Amino acid sequence: MASLFSLLTILIITFINPIFTSALLQPPTPPPPPIFMPTTPSTVPPGLFMSAVIFPQTFGLYLVEIGVGTPPVSQHMVMDTGSDLTWFKCKPCNCLQIPHLFDPLLSTSTAVVPCDFPACDHFGCNNNQCMYEVHYMDNSFTKGVLLLETLTLGGTGVLNVVVGCGHSNNGLVTAANGLLGLGGGPLSLPTQLRLHGLAGIFSYCLPDSAQDSLGWLNFSLPSAMVHAGTAWIPLLRNPNTPTFYYVGLSGLGIGDARLLIPENTFKLTEKGSGGVIIDSGTTYSHLPTPVYEIFRNTYVAKTVNILPQFSFGHPVFDTCFNLSGLESVQVPNVSFFFSAGPILTLKKGNILVDQELISGKGIFCLAFVPTNYTMFIIGSTQLAGIETSFDTTAGYMGFGPNTCGTPENSPYCHGYWPPRRISLGNYIPPNPFLLVCLFICFYL
Ligand SMILES: *[C@@H]1O[C@H](CO)[C@@H](O)[C@H](O)[C@H]1NC(C)=O
Ligand SMILES: *[C@@H]1O[C@H](CO)[C@@H](O)[C@H](O)[C@H]1NC(C)=O
Ligand SMILES: *[C@@H]1O[C@H](CO)[C@@H](O)[C@H](O)[C@H]1NC(C)=O
Ligand SMILES: *[C@@H]1O[C@H](CO)[C@@H](O)[C@H](O)[C@H]1NC(C)=O
Repeated sequence: MASLFSLLTILIITFINPIFTSALLQPPTPPPPPIFMPTTPSTVPPGLFMSAVIFPQTFGLYLVEIGVGTPPVSQHMVMDTGSDLTWFKCKPCNCLQIPHLFDPLLSTSTAVVPCDFPACDHFGCNNNQCMYEVHYMDNSFTKGVLLLETLTLGGTGVLNVVVGCGHSNNGLVTAANGLLGLGGGPLSLPTQLRLHGLAGIFSYCLPDSAQDSLGWLNFSLPSAMVHAGTAWIPLLRNPNTPTFYYVGLSGLGIGDARLLIPENTFKLTEKGSGGVIIDSGTTYSHLPTPVYEIFRNTYVAKTVNILPQFSFGHPVFDTCFNLSGLESVQVPNVSFFFSAGPILTLKKGNILVDQELISGKGIFCLAFVPTNYTMFIIGSTQLAGIETSFDTTAGYMGFGPNTCGTPENSPYCHGYWPPRRISLGNYIPPNPFLLVCLFICFYL
């Protein structure tokens, strides 16, 4: 059991094997012309952005619905800003039976990636087919052939996107058909859309797990349509890992105290180590152990009106609170201080997560985990409910101003979320069936 849940946490760090991060995709000859292929007969007005739906968290991952092929087959894809290649389980497949398993033979828009295509360089060709293989941090992997295929995002088809047709896959949630690679590297979807002339901003709002609401993912948003009031911070580049979106973090705060952590702890070094990335494919933020310990101890010390309790046998978290039977409690807020100025203060749902199924009714855990590496990861639990935008052309990312949670429970950038009394008893327990499924998926 214990290893199961630690596996889950690690699983969620979907970061790509370093061998895959070199510049793989140069545009072949001239880049493919911008081609829109409306799936509805209407013409697509230029400048229309493409919007897809994001479903509530399933085992720590967010799934987004896109269409693949012609006619488009609906696919639920893990949304991952921490990796590049978009792939899906694909016939013939050594995977569990899943709905909508993609069959390239039934799609009229499938094309083989030619062997002289730069994306092939790394893995080589076999029988004139361009192979790929991606390994994620948790040992899950996908293997197969690269295809050029049409992806339909919110009713708009984009032709000739390089995608992976995964014949052999392991890991990830069974409910997912594949993964949508939103990283910053050459093969990622935002980069490919840029090569297709569909520049612009992509932005998303991950739905709050406590609500049964949907989130959204918009592509090719013209800058004029980005919501005014977004707090922008520069993206930092790590030439060794173009996939990752690094941001400049200068500190962490709990309640009214800024933790005494030297600023260079968060720095991306010239050699490319350390730094802080934003990863929608990591569930809980990862802090290097020494920082985590300061963070956790301060958090516990500031939780004045509830007895701090540790772990409750939780295999992932070491700091949990038994809030059952309490009418209301006051919990300290947590802030990220960005070097560029903005301060992002989180609401309680982004700090404490309900762990009823694992540790018992009323058990909430501090949703941060220690790691042995020097890189920090800001995970999806911390950013759920907050509108997040990436302008990869200009090299900025933005937070807010909108949320996709309840307004009274909103985080603020540059602003304040007054600590509020959390009410108990309205949490939605995770689906026990999925838990069973998890065993099957990982141990088959
Ligand atoms: C993205 O699309 C969703 C739904 O289509 C919309 O509610 C949201 O405001 C859009 N976001 C931006 C920044 O335009
Ligand atoms: C949490 O507290 C409640 C009420 O005090 C108690 O009944 C319950 O057993 C506690 N849960 C755990 C896991 O200790
Ligand atoms: C980190 O390193 C310590 C000591 O080497 C080890 O006990 C621990 O299991 C490691 N933790 C992780 C998450 O790898
Ligand atoms: C965070 O908590 C502190 C201490 O309770 C409070 O003074 C501060 O206003 C809060 N910050 C925000 C942004 O809500």
